Amino acid sequence: MPPPSNPFDVRARHGGQGSMVVQMNVQNPTRLECLRGKDSWYCDAGDLMTLARGYAEVLLDLGTGDGRYARALARTHPDWLAIGVDACREGLRGRSRVASVGDNALFVIANALALPSGLTGLATRLAINFPWGSLLRGLLDGDQGLLDGLCTDTRPGAILECRLNGGALAEVGRTLDDGAAQARRMLRAAGFVPDAPLILDAQALSACPTTWAKRLAHGRDPRAVYLRAVRADV
Ligand SMILES: C[S@@+](CC[C@H](N)C(=O)[O-])C[C@H]1O[C@@H](n2cnc3c(N)ncnc32)[C@H](O)[C@@H]1O
Repeated sequence: MPPPSNPFDVRARHGGQGSMVVQMNVQNPTRLECLRGKDSWYCDAGDLMTLARGYAEVLLDLGTGDGRYARALARTHPDWLAIGVDACREGLRGRSRVASVGDNALFVIANALALPSGLTGLATRLAINFPWGSLLRGLLDGDQGLLDGLCTDTRPGAILECRLNGGALAEVGRTLDDGAAQARRMLRAAGFVPDAPLILDAQALSACPTTWAKRLAHGRDPRAVYLRAVRADV
């Protein structure tokens, strides 16, 4: 079923093409600042819920970087709404100018450790691809804000996919195996049931549609681990 008309349609509002960047207003978490390139405007978080209702699946890509993964999934699944979330505005801002992206991809600038209330109960799918910094530490240390967000922003039965790379894990003092085991423990604590981890080699990384996966595939340490987990019904 094709998605309904999109209240965030930037073509309608700006006469151009491309997806959006949305930033939560910290004073008022139900108010969202939308950015596209240098343009910005505000809309209400309730619009997001209304928009999501028209799609078969809602993907939340935490630590989306330049948003390539969310865009790729939105392109291959026009009946999905793909929402990329990142704490860093610059990567998204540059990419939000990119044309030929459907209206079913949008971007929110937010800290994944304190996700905005506008995302509550939205996602049927979650992705965390090659996290670093506070997102990686938050996952491995079981940051309560992150674990709560993984649970409250998803619907029961939601599928979570996580890819952790060897280099990032080494920087926080963990091996691939140890990091995977710890991440699985934390996913369980967040209410997910993880499958056994799978090792990704350079070939598998090349096939993964994220910018960081491509970099890793051609870099010095092309090792990563893939975790899949399903949110337990409550
Ligand atoms: C190595 S990049 C991976 C980007 C993308 N997922 C990819 O595979 O190309 C890690 C990303 O995590 C983001 N990140 C780190 N800590 C974060 C946090 N607390 N909240 C949101 N994003 C975070 C960074 O800004 C960065 O874009």
